[in-house]
Amino acid sequence: MKFFLDTANIEEIKRVNELGLVDGITTNPSIIAKEGRNFEEVIKEISSMIDGPVSAEVIGLETADMLKEAREIATWAPNVVVKIPMTEAGLRAVNRLSDEGIKTNVTLIFSAAQGLMAAKAGATYISPFVGRIDDIGTEGMDLVKDLKRILTEYQYETEIITASVRNIIHLQDAAVAGADIATIPGSQFPKLWSHPLTDIGIKKFLDDWEKMPK
Ligand code: E4P
Repeated sequence: MKFFLDTANIEEIKRVNELGLVDGITTNPSIIAKEGRNFEEVIKEISSMIDGPVSAEVIGLETADMLKEAREIATWAPNVVVKIPMTEAGLRAVNRLSDEGIKTNVTLIFSAAQGLMAAKAGATYISPFVGRIDDIGTEGMDLVKDLKRILTEYQYETEIITASVRNIIHLQDAAVAGADIATIPGSQFPKLWSHPLTDIGIKKFLDDWEKMPK
């Protein structure tokens, strides 16, 4: 399973990248706005730090605008993936971009039908938003399970990015469901390797060691 970081914060990316754990990055307009930096500049900087795909999202809502932005974004770095919202206009853009060899990540997927349409249009990645589905009282991970079955059954190459990950349970369940990737907020990532019992265990070992006759 691949781990992406869902952040545009350079310090967060550096910290986890030094552990060799980052396979890619996802961003969205909210994540970019949080950094208060120029979009192109920040995506170029991240793309030069990371070997894997870096998703950068278009703002336009019409196919022509999406295509214009996507073609521009795709020139920023060889590992840039263009994020396109899941709409009719978006599907049209994905279809064209796929023909042009531009990689896409179709975002804001909330149903299996949407995921299937995006895969059929030629999306490189699809991003089901698990946390936001949970927020409205439905089991978000069921969507990841359904999409995995569908894409496997019909042999699509499209990869599933489990997005809107809010906690470690989401990540573990995404792995069990067979998601190709989980994209994890920078704030959640350190929780993946931390456990209070590990900290208590280390302290106990050191305390016992100190009690040893010198
Ligand atoms: C990733 O591609 C999404 O933009 C992100 O995971 C959304 O997460 P949120 O629902 O916590 O904003």
